[in-house]
Amino acid sequence: MHTTPQYLLDTGSELGREQMDHLERLLDGTTTACLDEIGIEPGRRCLDLGAGGGSITRWLAERTGPGGTVVSVDLDTGYLVPGPGIEVHRHDINDGLPVDGPFHLIHTRLLLMHLPRRADILRTLADALAPGGWLVIGEFSNRPRRVLSAPIRADRQLFNRVQDIGHNTVARAAGVSFTWAHEVDQHMAEAGLTNIHSLERSQTTTGGTTGCLLNRNYVRQLEAPLLRAGITGEELARYRDLMLDPRFRAWFYQFVCTRGQKPA
Ligand SMILES: C[S@@+](CC[C@H](N)C(=O)[O-])C[C@H]1O[C@@H](n2cnc3c(N)ncnc32)[C@H](O)[C@@H]1O
Repeated sequence: MHTTPQYLLDTGSELGREQMDHLERLLDGTTTACLDEIGIEPGRRCLDLGAGGGSITRWLAERTGPGGTVVSVDLDTGYLVPGPGIEVHRHDINDGLPVDGPFHLIHTRLLLMHLPRRADILRTLADALAPGGWLVIGEFSNRPRRVLSAPIRADRQLFNRVQDIGHNTVARAAGVSFTWAHEVDQHMAEAGLTNIHSLERSQTTTGGTTGCLLNRNYVRQLEAPLLRAGITGEELARYRDLMLDPRFRAWFYQFVCTRGQKPA
């Protein structure tokens, strides 16, 4: 029997909460700059899909009020608080949208890359846009993320090994795609969207700072599948220490934010 792979991480756990905080600290500036370029006006109806910690939902609600609505959707809605202008739905997007469109803006960040049916879901989202409405998709890409500095040579090899097995064995088995970030443009075009534009942001991260703390968080959340895939407990312990060590520095995931507009 074929089953859809499950979302790998646990948003509702303590580590999940920490992950949401790191993501918001790292990415909200870039995401809100992308959304500001579109221009979010009062009275608009928006959808924030896979809203996680809810920072973009709240940001949108401030821009769309008074009179607007943000429909905030996640499998785990523990951090999403309904209120004036915010509607919360606990829902699996694999089952379709929880409410009908049209929406003036649909935003989703670091969700579709996890979902094997990402291309079909993108088309569903494009169909749910109002004429002139925007779809904004932010994803991580995994182009080579070179280590720039490490206490000893073996640490560089360890970082590359954990990344390689994490991405190419553990994440791939769960249906995660790191090439999708650069495929979104093509899928938006095929869904009939216009004015498509992408922005890619790269940055380095140092041990003990947010990017490395997020790397460490992922390895803690994925400890069991990483061990099953052949990484040893000693290697994981060294990796966790390395992500706290200010002598370690490497390129972090590129964040690619793509927007496309439904013809008016
Ligand atoms: C990596 S987190 C990103 C959270 C937030 N968008 C951000 O970038 O800060 C992915 C989010 O998508 C949610 N999610 C995963 N699979 C989902 C599904 N099938 N339907 C709806 N939400 C899902 C998770 O619970 C989690 O909150």
